[in-house]
Amino acid sequence: LRTAAVIPAAGRGVRLGPGAPKALRALGGTPMLIHAVRAMAASRAVSLVVVVAPPDGAPEVRALLDSHTFPERTELLVVPGGDTRQQSVSLGLQALPEDVDVVLVHDAARPLVPVDTVDTVINAVRGGAPAVVPALPLADTVKEVRPDSGGGSEPVVGTPERARLRAVQTPQGFDRDTLVKAHETVTFDGEGATDDAGMVERLGAPVVVVPGHEEAFKVTRPLDLVLAEAVLARRRV
Ligand code: CTP
Ligand code: MG
Repeated sequence: LRTAAVIPAAGRGVRLGPGAPKALRALGGTPMLIHAVRAMAASRAVSLVVVVAPPDGAPEVRALLDSHTFPERTELLVVPGGDTRQQSVSLGLQALPEDVDVVLVHDAARPLVPVDTVDTVINAVRGGAPAVVPALPLADTVKEVRPDSGGGSEPVVGTPERARLRAVQTPQGFDRDTLVKAHETVTFDGEGATDDAGMVERLGAPVVVVPGHEEAFKVTRPLDLVLAEAVLARRRV
């Protein structure tokens, strides 16, 4: 039985601004997706990586992977994704071979996650937790608001105690059957689930948090690219 990583990479990256799909944008001269695949393949426990490509971009992503090097032990599959992250992850799960029992789901948009974080998540799942999320305490205080009330101001509903909050990252790790069941049964409105562990919570299964890492931040807006380039440059010295 083995561990696989599913990498949803089908998003357009609207918040990053116009250009190629976010996962294909360069970071230190190499597409973000390649960094993300290498981050998963860096774990000796991961023997399969399933990349979920933009819906019409699977051949291009396959060619991109074929033009880069990865560890010998790593098998790579590419499948086309869907309109939402949740759909893309589902399509990735459907491509898993039978002998996979532990699944990581990792955003292509978190290209710099250290291997220690990946291994911490895998070890927690192998230790018996059906769903494991790397996360960090928040720097900012968070307000719940009633959104979009117009006029540029939003009424505050409440302020959750910051010490009890965690900002979640990926890779999130799962017992395969638990995650597949969540994707088959849990329904969300609109954009779908932004987080796989949230679907497992809806199933009623326990989810635990382990320490995340600052370098596992998500490249979402243009300033994040500046930070990512700086982190890469620091690694190279
Ligand atoms: N994703 C996906 N399929 C989608 C939407 C998102 O596979 N239909 C992936 C993205 O490629 C990304 C991850 O989910 O690796 C996290 O999503 P996010 O950071 O929101 O990326 P985008 O959706 O591409 O960005 P934006 O929301 O700014 O458009
Ligand atoms: Mg998105």
